[in-house]
Amino acid sequence: MHQEQELIAIRNQLGLLFGLNFTESQDSLLVKNLQNAATELGLSSDLSAIKSWLKKKSFLPEESNMLAKYLTIGETYFFREKAALKLFTEKIIPDLSAKSLIDDGKPVKIWSAGCSSGEEPYTLAILLKEANINLKNLNISILATDLNVNALAKATKGLYTEWSFRETSAEIKEKYFTKQNKQYQIKKEIRDMVVFKPLNLATADFPVSENHTDQIDVIFCRNVLMYFWSETAKTIATKFYQALKPEGWLITSQVELIDEYFSVFSREHYANGIFYQKKDKAVVLNANNGRQSMLAPKTNSFLKSTKKPANRKVEHNKKPFISSKAFSTSNKANAKADSQQSPQQLFESANYTACIEACEEKLKIQQDNKQLRLLLVKSLANTGQLKQAAEEAETLLKADAINPDFLNIFANILMEMEEWDKAKNYLTKSLYINPDLLATHFNMGYVYQKLGKTKQAEKHFQNLLKSLENMADNTIVSEMDNMTAGRLKELTLMMAAL
Ligand SMILES: C[S@@+](CC[C@H](N)C(=O)[O-])C[C@H]1O[C@@H](n2cnc3c(N)ncnc32)[C@H](O)[C@@H]1O
Repeated sequence: MHQEQELIAIRNQLGLLFGLNFTESQDSLLVKNLQNAATELGLSSDLSAIKSWLKKKSFLPEESNMLAKYLTIGETYFFREKAALKLFTEKIIPDLSAKSLIDDGKPVKIWSAGCSSGEEPYTLAILLKEANINLKNLNISILATDLNVNALAKATKGLYTEWSFRETSAEIKEKYFTKQNKQYQIKKEIRDMVVFKPLNLATADFPVSENHTDQIDVIFCRNVLMYFWSETAKTIATKFYQALKPEGWLITSQVELIDEYFSVFSREHYANGIFYQKKDKAVVLNANNGRQSMLAPKTNSFLKSTKKPANRKVEHNKKPFISSKAFSTSNKANAKADSQQSPQQLFESANYTACIEACEEKLKIQQDNKQLRLLLVKSLANTGQLKQAAEEAETLLKADAINPDFLNIFANILMEMEEWDKAKNYLTKSLYINPDLLATHFNMGYVYQKLGKTKQAEKHFQNLLKSLENMADNTIVSEMDNMTAGRLKELTLMMAAL
């Protein structure tokens, strides 16, 4: 077998064993790690031998432990990702403590899945201690699981170096840890709140009461599924859903907000973060009872596609693909390039051809001028030169990969080019950076519809409608081409009804 085929077989096998997805670009590192694991176990480090070894029906515990040690990334620290912790302290804990009073002491169960060396579950324990609730009256348990038993051993020991405290206040460190030479030992009162157990998320049977993974109130599974094959991640997300009590929460990291995985959940915004909640589907669907069917004018680039939504008559809009906020509808599109006018003025007067010329000229000496390049991208797009617009937009993103304007404009161009999957990826990034942009939610809904993923589309439209609920109908939504909130509401209802 060629080395290439061997590597494909190895990558697939690691997916089956642990859910982990290693890409081709990681091959050399993967081989090195596998060879180290094999050598440490006294096995052959030859690639074919490793491939055959991985195909074994079952592994000795020391074999799987060695693989976990060499193949997993255990990066973690106390008080990681504040938005999730804010949700936990400000909403989840108070809700759970109120519910527990009603439920008369029924157990409250928290699960840190993929807990690594314990910083995450101990953070949750500390937050519970710090909360203004009587823990004695709350029958709380924190289960912390991981594939890597070495990490779990460290967690059980509870001894940490300074690096684990990079986001922890001195006060908390002082209160819940005891200094031991250059390390810090977690205090027993916190240590005793957490139970650590090995569990492989890719293969374990859950939810089942035997391993305490059923009837959970909150699951923290952060920075874990991002390393998994998408199919495995989807399956695990569904199992998490089953493991949760109604209204239970699944907290992922903000870089793992992949709608495709979590489509069964309701997406909730809190403290600039997005989190997943198990909601009664009936409740979500009821929100649609107010749906209306109506004819909506075409308003934005993505509706400019020649393909109209089925069975809907959609008015044509004469607006350009991407307009500036100050865009004037008076038609000056054919005006000659005026050397007295700046590229911005040319753009604002809809003189896109002249704007392109002016931008290109200026960019020869100011290559790094992002505002100029942005105007060039918009003008190219508005004159239908989508391929060139996309290339220029990519140049912008190379210079600033997390600029929401650049991400959104590129996504808009991709939508116009009907590259739905790619557009979705850029919109997802944009939402991560700014979850409150109404236009991005609208675009996400539209793209998901195009991809035939109606559930996900529905979620974005519902989120958008929820945000619009609190806005007066005449409020101007600048990012949606100065459309009014009322109009956007109508349009969203129409899209959601398609
Ligand atoms: C980057 S750490 C995340 C730690 C913590 N959740 C956080 O966000 O700080 C990822 C953890 O996932 C664990 N992991 C990887 N594959 C796993 C699997 N199949 N089952 C359980 N845990 C797994 C790794 O061992 C590692 O400890």
